[in-house]
This record gives sequence, C-alpha cells and structure tokens, in this order.
Amino acid sequence: MPVYLDHAATTPMLPGARAAYVDALGVVGNPSSIHSQGQQAKRMLEESREVVAASVGAEPIEVIFTSGGTESINLGVKGLYWARQSPARPVVLVPGGEHHATVDAVEWLVRHEGAEVVWLPVDALGRLHPAVLEAALERHGASVALVSVLWANNEVGTIQDVRALVATASRFGVPVHVDAVAAYGYLPLEFDAVGAAAMSISAHKIGGPVGIGALVLSRRSSVEPLIHGGNQQRVRSGTQDVAGAVAFAAAAAEVVREFGAGGGAGSAGVGAAGAGRGGAGSAGASGAVGWAAGAGGGGAGAASGAGTAGAVGGAAGAGGGVGWAAGAGGGAAAGSAGAGGESFVGGLAALRDRLIEGVREAVPEAVLRGDPEASGRLPGNAHFTFPGCEGDSLLFLLDLAGFSVSTGSACQAGVPEISHVLTAMGVSDDEARGALRFTLGHGTTPAEVDALVAALPAAYAAARKAGFSTREVTPAAR
Ligand SMILES: Cc1ncc(COP(=O)(O)O)c(C=O)c1O
Repeated sequence: MPVYLDHAATTPMLPGARAAYVDALGVVGNPSSIHSQGQQAKRMLEESREVVAASVGAEPIEVIFTSGGTESINLGVKGLYWARQSPARPVVLVPGGEHHATVDAVEWLVRHEGAEVVWLPVDALGRLHPAVLEAALERHGASVALVSVLWANNEVGTIQDVRALVATASRFGVPVHVDAVAAYGYLPLEFDAVGAAAMSISAHKIGGPVGIGALVLSRRSSVEPLIHGGNQQRVRSGTQDVAGAVAFAAAAAEVVREFGAGGGAGSAGVGAAGAGRGGAGSAGASGAVGWAAGAGGGGAGAASGAGTAGAVGGAAGAGGGVGWAAGAGGGAAAGSAGAGGESFVGGLAALRDRLIEGVREAVPEAVLRGDPEASGRLPGNAHFTFPGCEGDSLLFLLDLAGFSVSTGSACQAGVPEISHVLTAMGVSDDEARGALRFTLGHGTTPAEVDALVAALPAAYAAARKAGFSTREVTPAAR
C-alpha cells in the first residue's frame, strides 16, 4: 500500500463519515417534500447544517451547501461581484497565488462582465500584508466590488492574517470572500467573529465525501445566485444532497471536537443524523495521526464517541502519533485528545516538523517554501523546491518507490505548469520547476515520514540526473 502524503489534494474519508454516508443513502425522501419521509430527510439535512455551522463558528442559516469548494468560490466571488453592481463597482482585489478556482472565476468576470482585477503583491512567504490591501483600497476607493483571499495557501501552506485583512476591508465597506478550503479542519475558523462576507469550505478536505462543500454566507451579506431553480437554499437552487450533508457533518463533528464550536451556533451535540454506527478506526492501532474512528449518530453516537475517544487517542499516543479523537456524533465526548494527550493538529504539526527536519538533513540543497515558522504554516504542509531537477521527475520516482506526493501546482493536458504561487512569491522559474509538496493528515505515521525521508536522496539523485525536460513549460497564470 503506497504511503499517502497528498492530503491537501483530498484526504481519505473518515470511517465515521463513510458509515454515516452509506446509512444516509438508504433514506428515501426529498427534503423539500411535505410528507413525513421528506420531513425526516429535512431533519437530517438541517441537523447536518447545524454541525457544519458549528465547525466554522457560523449560524446554520449562513451555511449554503454546494457541490464543493470550486462552486462555493464561484458563488462567493461572482455572486458578491454581481450583488455590488448598483452602482457599478468593477474592481476586484485579489492577491497573487490564489487557487485557480478564484483566479479563473475573476478572469471570467474580466472577460465577460467588464470587471477589472487588481492583483495584489504578496511577500516571499506568500503573505498579503494588510498595509498593501489598505493602499489598494485607498487607490481604488468606491469602485471596489470585493476582495477575495485565501485563509491558507494550499501549495506552500502559508496562513494569512485574515482577521486583519477583513478588518481593513471593512473600514472601506468592502466585502471579503475567504477561500478557507485548505485551512478548514486544520485551523480554527471563526467565521462570525472574523466578519467576512463569505467563506468557502469543502468536505473532502476534512474526511467527508467529494461532491459537497459550503459557502458560508453572512446573514448580513447577499450574493447573486449562479444557479436558478427551486430556491431550496437562500441563494442556491437544486435538490439538496442529504446523504452528502450527513457525511460532511460526521467529518465536521471532528473539527468541532478539535477546535470547539467556534462561537457559532453551539450545536456540536448534534450528531450525523441517522448514522448510529460506532467502532474504532484503523488509525489508533498503528500510532497514526488519527482523526478516525466511530461514526455516531445523535445521542447514541455521543455515547459511543465518548467511549472510543480515549482508546484511540491512547493508542495513537503510544505509537508516537496523535489522535484526533474518535467517534463523530455527539459533542458529549468532551476532550479531544483521549489518553494520547495531544490534539490532532498538534500531533500533525509535530510530524510535519519531523518531515521538514528529515528532508533538510537528507537533501541539504532543498529549500523550504512558505513560512518557516510553525505558527505561520498549515500543520500538515511541507513544501520544498529541489534545485536542478523537475518536481515532476521527483514525483514519478517517489511514486515508483511507493509514495504519493504532489508538485502542488496544476498540470494541464500532461504539461507541467510552473506554480503561479511560487511565481507570485518571487521564486524564479528554474527554482519553481523543482517544487514538491508533502501534505500529511489523519492516518499519517512517524514511520511513513521516516520512510519518505529515507527514500528521498536516491530519488533526488535520479531526478537531478534526468535534469530539466526540454519541453515547453506553461508560463504561470496569476
Ligand atoms: C485552497 C483551495 N481552494 C479551492 C479548492 C477547490 O475545492 P474542491 O476540490 O472542493 O472543488 C481547493 C482544492 O484543492 C483548494 O485547495
């Protein structure tokens, strides 16, 4: 079984979320139907919405379920833009190095809607400084429709000072959309306290299924819908995905357990409705980073969650890893760490630091990108550039050796693209070509990190030998 170190691309579904998903798929009923089966589905949906809201410190009414992060970002960016065109405000302020969902949505607005995008400079770590935003807001004044900014960069892991950026924009009365897809589950996201207009999250980054996410939309903000139809949600039409929402909530319950309810609706006690299946996850026994474990549903889930938390945390602790609690389900399972005594995120950061240290020792030429300070980067992210080789060559060689990693940037039609994130940070094209991103998550063990570090020197030597490909490399977008 290959060692999976690409959790930022997608993280495996948590056993509890998978169990909740399968159970909920058996439930018949459209939540918009009046009959009792429809109302049962609606209850499951709304209980799930409460858990997701609690996981980001928002109110349930602020959670708009979507098909994932990309749709959420499109709704946040285009929707806010359209909602602010009377009077016309053509300017969109975006830092360099945003995810392509934002970059491409904004460029579409430029091509089709007469928008003007101003790309804001970021520093060498990938961070937008509030003073830079302030200067742009002063320059463009009343013509700014919105600001869109990542909470944390998905490639290099740098965390933005979102609170300060939103406060700056608020002084100018400009709404902010935050792409929190990479940050969700790894940092506390206190949506209402931060004061953003909208925030995008995605279930498959936290152990939920692919195909569901949310735009968290402040009750004080409005967006113009992208999809028109039956008005099932405030600004998004379409029959709602009950099973997806239930599974999303089962994973989100672990986020609540890690960070608390974030000042939100305080509904952490609501389990993934109808799941009701416990059972220890596989992570604990091997000393893995464990988010893992039982599903749990409503009250019953809370009880079994409480029962398994200690066991999993304990096992994980003994193995040198960490345990992100256990049973999903209820908020009654207080204290996330179990006997292991360490939070999921704390344990993950320790594994990340072990990996960074190991890579630096094994390949001293490797350059860590993003914030070198532990507090300034995502706990599961280690991103390096390796001089004199293609990141793609390293990726393929490591794949052959049994490790799944990423270059972090897009590859279009098989042609590697220089990372627009690294370009925005001022990294030269030659250096950027050697980029490789390792992202850790639940299930990652110290032994896996050590194995990667041991395999790296041979892969690097072979990749250097292969040198740079003579193919044209697509120039970076923003
Ligand atoms: C920062 C960021 N934004 C948006 C997305 C897109 O989310 P989704 O895959 O749910 O469409 C991703 C996915 O990698 C991401 O990392």
